Amino acid sequence: MAANKKRSVYVCNSCGASSPRWAGQCSACGAWNTLVEMRGLDSKEKRRATLPSGGKPEVVRLGDVEWTDADRRKTGIGELDRVLGGGIVPGSLVLIGGDPGIGKSTLMLQMCARLQDALYVSGEESLVQIRHRAARLPKPPLDLKLLAATNVEQILDAADQTGAGVLVIDSIQTMYRDDLDSAPGSVAQVRECAALLMRAAKDRGISIFLVGHVTKDGMIAGPKVLEHMVDTVLQFEGEQVYAHRIVRAAKNRFGSTNEIGVFEMSSDGMTEVKNPSLLFLGDRDEPESGTAVVAAMEGARPLLIEVQALVARSGYGTPQRGTTGYDAKRLQMILAVLEKRMGLNLAERDVFVNVAGGLRLDDPAVDLGIAAAIVSSYRDVPLRAGSVLVGELGLTGEVRTVTHLETRIREAAKLGFSQAVVPRSGAKRLQAPEGIQVRGIDRVVMALTELFGGGKA
Ligand code: TYD
Ligand code: MG
Repeated sequence: MAANKKRSVYVCNSCGASSPRWAGQCSACGAWNTLVEMRGLDSKEKRRATLPSGGKPEVVRLGDVEWTDADRRKTGIGELDRVLGGGIVPGSLVLIGGDPGIGKSTLMLQMCARLQDALYVSGEESLVQIRHRAARLPKPPLDLKLLAATNVEQILDAADQTGAGVLVIDSIQTMYRDDLDSAPGSVAQVRECAALLMRAAKDRGISIFLVGHVTKDGMIAGPKVLEHMVDTVLQFEGEQVYAHRIVRAAKNRFGSTNEIGVFEMSSDGMTEVKNPSLLFLGDRDEPESGTAVVAAMEGARPLLIEVQALVARSGYGTPQRGTTGYDAKRLQMILAVLEKRMGLNLAERDVFVNVAGGLRLDDPAVDLGIAAAIVSSYRDVPLRAGSVLVGELGLTGEVRTVTHLETRIREAAKLGFSQAVVPRSGAKRLQAPEGIQVRGIDRVVMALTELFGGGKA
């Protein structure tokens, strides 16, 4: 008995950190009364938990491992296939996170509707509710297999019986395992249910999608640890106030990350947006001061996006800086460069930066556009119409070259932009497409000469 004694560990329900002893406060995140007991595993269970097949491990030659990319299954929803890295990989575990009401269930239902061997499991909604949702879709998938259940062992039995190749669990927070005492939704249950499902996916070669709600601080609820366990994390991004929905691959063992899929929530469910650039450009009849268009890479796809800046006299002692969709630290850096290198007086001005359409931009190539929008608002002069900006800003005010320059410019030309202001070093090696004039610059000051047609800042 003593040799096989199961040791308990305590897991924080807020951050997922574990500790050998109970405490009132989590030493990792500081939250109070969040530690819950989790039964430890005995050695047999541990072996089962770590080995995908449960058998004896064998050394093999890499070349002997059978695998083809052709195994991927297309869902037929282009934007979803894109973020998955080209389709569903058999045996993969995918986590779909997002705020409540953003469209996770709808998208999963639409995906299942296109696959013959899908089983959609709901632990949140009744079968009638799901039927209601499906009735809104253009072609209600009447043959789709549904299951209302919350016990993972039972669900896996049902999946085996129906021969499911794709299993959707909506949501992982409602699931539980009999052998654990804690409540559904607790870190322990979520983690152990996911572990069981992961094993099932690898052993049986079926693809499992876990739907997960996001907590207020943006974490996939309960444990961040889920993100480490799964193969792919798809995250719904942005605000619900927009009709469009952005799904980003935050992690993908089977494809590139930061790929995004763009959808529109319409009366027909989630519909694909085929040309997302048009969505993020806004109505651009007359250029207005404080706006600029950047060409950012989202995964392998170039997107043209409008960025806006507002520079206003500050009413308070300390001027405010605010950003939506752009890194606040990066904004501070750009403001410092503009003050130092271009003599802008921003010390008594509030500065706000906003990316159109609720998109979050991490691509450094948008720096130049953000800087131009700020100067444009500061001077209250619009940039030259039809311009797109690409370039990373360095601390000395130099404009650095960026990846995929040609792809970005081609997208701009395709959308009818007439001028691209880009880093000079990249411009030299460039095959400029027709209809767009490419201007190479190496300092941010020069960009503004091109854009405002001369004069000083
Ligand atoms: P849902 O998929 O239930 O969100 P989640 O599973 O992420 O919580 O989406 C629900 C919202 O979508 C709800 O507000 C209704 C809306 N909706 C549409 O606008 N059109 C549709 O065709 C459907 C099915 C839902
Ligand atoms: Mg839902």
